[in-house]
Parts: sequence; structure tokens; C-alpha cells
Amino acid sequence: MTTSDVSEFYKLTMEERVRRVADSVGLSVEDIGTLKAGSGLTLDKADYMIENVIGMMQLPLGVATHFLINGKDYFIPMAIEEPSVVAAASLAAKMARVKGGFKASADRSIMIGQIQLVEVPDPHAALQRVREVKGSLLEIANGTNPTLVNLGGGAVDLTGRVVDTERGRMLIFHLLVDCKDAMGANTVNAMVEEIAPLVEEMAGGKVRLRILSNLAIHRMARAWATFDRDAVGGEHVVEGILDAHAFADADPYRCATNNKGIMNGIVAMALATGNDTRAIEAGAHTYASLSGRCRSLARWERNEDGDLVGSIELPLAVGTVGGATSSHPVAKIALKILDVKTAQELAAVMAAVGLAQNFAALRAMIKEGIQKGHMKLHARNLAIMAGATPDILDEVISELTKLTKITYDDAVRVVRGLRERGT
Ligand code: MEV
Repeated sequence: MTTSDVSEFYKLTMEERVRRVADSVGLSVEDIGTLKAGSGLTLDKADYMIENVIGMMQLPLGVATHFLINGKDYFIPMAIEEPSVVAAASLAAKMARVKGGFKASADRSIMIGQIQLVEVPDPHAALQRVREVKGSLLEIANGTNPTLVNLGGGAVDLTGRVVDTERGRMLIFHLLVDCKDAMGANTVNAMVEEIAPLVEEMAGGKVRLRILSNLAIHRMARAWATFDRDAVGGEHVVEGILDAHAFADADPYRCATNNKGIMNGIVAMALATGNDTRAIEAGAHTYASLSGRCRSLARWERNEDGDLVGSIELPLAVGTVGGATSSHPVAKIALKILDVKTAQELAAVMAAVGLAQNFAALRAMIKEGIQKGHMKLHARNLAIMAGATPDILDEVISELTKLTKITYDDAVRVVRGLRERGT
């Protein structure tokens, strides 16, 4: 990777953008071909992925620029249908660079597999009995995946607790598994299914569910960055973002939207890299509400220099191997573009993108309102649809954004007008 700090990347043609990214991260001719073809996944392959396939649903793949994380440059691949998200992330990353970019880290890839036991006559004593044979249970669990164990991962602990429910007391075990570079759902499910009958035998009662938890509390990712007061637009913007943050942290109606904005970036990256977006969303939103009320996933403060300091922490169960990350041709290219070496690095980068997205959304709402940014992209789309060529594109967009509401007919009229004037 040379640098992702490319000015006016959006002004390049698509061909030039692909070339720029390809040169920077070393994509093959075949990768470039796949990107240009706009697909990658064939119907035959799709037919193996899920059931009852009748076609394909495609999304644009964009690249956010300017990201500097732990001193390393990243192009961020994002698959998303919503305008402004890629541009907003890029703008935030550009501003973060002024003070050195983002710092980010992620925990080991420890996932939780749950085993539910009901009708246990003496749940607390049963818990102790199972604890006594923990070592052998971990060994049996690891027997289901020697490859993972050889890679340094595998089941590392078994904990339990008694949970009171509307159907009485239940004994719930958590098998902790280091999934290394995989998201880990299949591995963890196989392990809990393997040991559940033995746990049932030791504990008494009846085993019910044996399944992974998406609240990946041991697999946290975090990022933080300082945003220079003047670079973000001055004191007024800093104050506005602090107020917006306080609002989100106090009010669930705002909190949901605030965290949705954060997930715009994270989920777009997850989709681009073939990760399970539903698992990530479930974990993030549950984590945000863990205290009993919805909290913002990001925090904003002011430092002694008057700059804005942002931080974020959330569970991020993402993989760089297995599932669609390894089988979807575009996901494989997205991972190449990211050039991440491990799932931990991917999670750390995602956390930084989430923070950038929150910053950009709050700043846009403080400064000009969110619609203005959307209007520009809307104008651009309509201008291109109306036949605006690169020589007049900027002028068409500028004319259209002067209107309060833009339609396709407006775009056609402006394009025609400029052509007639010979611009
Ligand atoms: C829109 O997709 C996301 C925002 O609503 C996020 C926010 O309000 O913080 C702009």
C-alpha cells in the first residue's frame, strides 16, 4: 500500500479508481476483471450458497479513502446502497489525519457457545460438578477441530451460571473458544453440540439449546482519534458534536439512529468482506443496551487543547477465513484491498470506520443538515443519468444543488442548457 490519502478520488473515472487501488494494493489482472465485470459471484456458485436461488441481488462496492490507522494506510471497501456513507467516512478519515489518524485494537477472537440445561435439581452443585471435569470437556471440544488447535486456537474455558427465567431456574454454560481468523459460528456450534450430552450427564436435567452467542463480549474492538478543532470547523462544531453525543447517550430514540449511523460503515465493510452482518448488528445493538438503556457505541470528549476526542468500543465477531470471506470472489478482493493480516486487524479497522462514520454524521448534522450531502450525491446520480459528461458534470451538479428539490427532468434541462450554451 502506498497511501490511501488520495485527494479527489471521487473525481477519477471508475477505471482510474480501480487502477489506483489495484496499483496500491497489488490486485491481479483477474481481480481487476472481476471488479470491472461488476459481479464475481456466478449463479452456479450462488446456488450452492443458499436454498431456492432464483437470481442475484447486487450492491455497489465503493472504497473510502484517507484512512490512517495505527500508522498504516487503508483503502476501505464498502458494499452499500446508501449514498453519502463512503464519502462521509472518507471526509472523517481525512480530518482525523490532521492529528495522526486513528488508533485501534481488538481482543483475541474468543467466542461464546452456550449450553442451556433445564430442570436441573441442584443447579449450583451441578455447576461445581461440571467445573471439576472442565479440562476433559475442553479436550473433547477441541477434538472436533484439531486444525484450529494446531493454529493456536480452540476451546479455552468453560464457565456457568444459574439464570432465573419465566420457566424456572436454568443452568447455562459458556464454552469460550478462540476462533483465530474465523468468525467461528460453525466451530463453536460443533463444539457445544459435542460436549452437551456429557454436560447433561454430569449436571442432571435436560439439555435444550447448544448455540453460539452473538454477544461476543470477549471479542471487543476499539478505536480512538483526535480531531483538530479548527480542521473540523471550529468551536461551534466541537460543541455541537458534544451536545449531539450527549443526546444520543440519554435518549433511546436518538441512540438507535446514532448507532445506526455507526453501523452504516461497519456493516458496509462486513458485507464487502463476506462477513455475517446480522451477527455483527445483533452483537453491537445488544452491547449498546447492556446497561439497561441504549448507550452510544462511540464517546466524544474535548481535550485540554479544545480538540475533539472520539472513541468507540463494541463486540466485532468478524473473520478473514471461512464462509463467504473465502468463497465470494468480491469478498476475497475486498480483503486484498484492505490488506489485513488477521481477523483482529480487520475488527480494529472496522471500529475505526464506525467512529469515523459517527463523527461524519454528527458533524454534517451540526453544520449543514444531513440532506445537503445526500442532495449532492442525488444530483450527481441524476446528472449522470441525464447524460452529463465529465466536462460538464461539476457544473450540472452545482446548478442542481441550488434547487430545493431535484428531479430527473431538472437534470435533463440543465444538461441540455449547458450543451446549448456550448459549455
Ligand atoms: C443515516 O443513514 C445515518 C444518520 O441518521 C446517523 C445519525 O443520525 O447519526 C445520519
